[in-house]
Amino acid sequence: MATSGDSDRFEASVAQAASWLVEAQSVLFVTGAGVSADSGLPTYRGVGGLYDDVPTPDGMPIEQALSGEMLARDPKLVWKYMLQVARAVEGAAPNRAHEVIAEVERAKPRVWTLTQNVDGFHRRAGSRNLIDIHGDLSQMTCTRCPHRYRIESVDDLGPYLPPFCNQCGADIRPEVVLFGEFLLEEKVQRLREQLERGFDLIFTIGTTSVFAYISGPILQSRVRGTRTVEINPDQTEVSDIVDLRITGRAATTLDAIWTRCQAD
Ligand code: OAD
Repeated sequence: MATSGDSDRFEASVAQAASWLVEAQSVLFVTGAGVSADSGLPTYRGVGGLYDDVPTPDGMPIEQALSGEMLARDPKLVWKYMLQVARAVEGAAPNRAHEVIAEVERAKPRVWTLTQNVDGFHRRAGSRNLIDIHGDLSQMTCTRCPHRYRIESVDDLGPYLPPFCNQCGADIRPEVVLFGEFLLEEKVQRLREQLERGFDLIFTIGTTSVFAYISGPILQSRVRGTRTVEINPDQTEVSDIVDLRITGRAATTLDAIWTRCQAD
């Protein structure tokens, strides 16, 4: 149960984060599934998470169903689960957290967002300096020829599974990183370049930070002296490392911080 002490602590943390954000010229937002949880999408881990110990109706864990190996062996099965995720995304919309991040990008000289989310919500909310390190479910690519295109709706894929390329007839797939697949080198390079330039402030929001390239910017900040803020209702891999930990939800916390910044 929330107490008035909790609420005082939350307000004090919001004020601290807001004063750092006001001062910062360059900001990196690192985001994960928790940011889209406020849009009603499930997270991967934790309560209601997609990767909870329940196997898929096909009797395998979702990590196996959504793997690169399975795409080579049984693309129809992988597509079945990708379509479920894509339909959930289609039924949802960006929330206040995505909006605030895009507003901060417009207001400050240099703001980047590193997201693990494949829902495309940061782009839809207006973020342009975006590294969607796990890809975007609406971006399609042919598995044989260079044809690439973006879909507006799952219905654009047509009735066949796997959908096929209208240029060469081979299977198409979304440009997302499946289990066991490598990150796209071009995105890793863009991230490296931005991290080398450094940031005044890093927010890590709604991610358990299980991957080294996600916790890395926070770990590096200890030697670089970059300020770091975590927004997450739960403890994560980086909770004990950040300068300021705010135990709150992404949308309400970011909105409170940004409102405070504008009032200052
Ligand atoms: P996780 O599902 O691992 O973590 C979600 C985090 O969001 C948890 O720490 C929750 O406590 C937190 N959370 C839940 N609701 C929240 C809210 N309303 N506001 C803020 N935080 C909230 O998701 P990720 O860390 O994004 O990769 O997972 C990383 C990657 O694991 C995914 O991109 C996916 C998966 O394997 C691939 O598919 C390649």
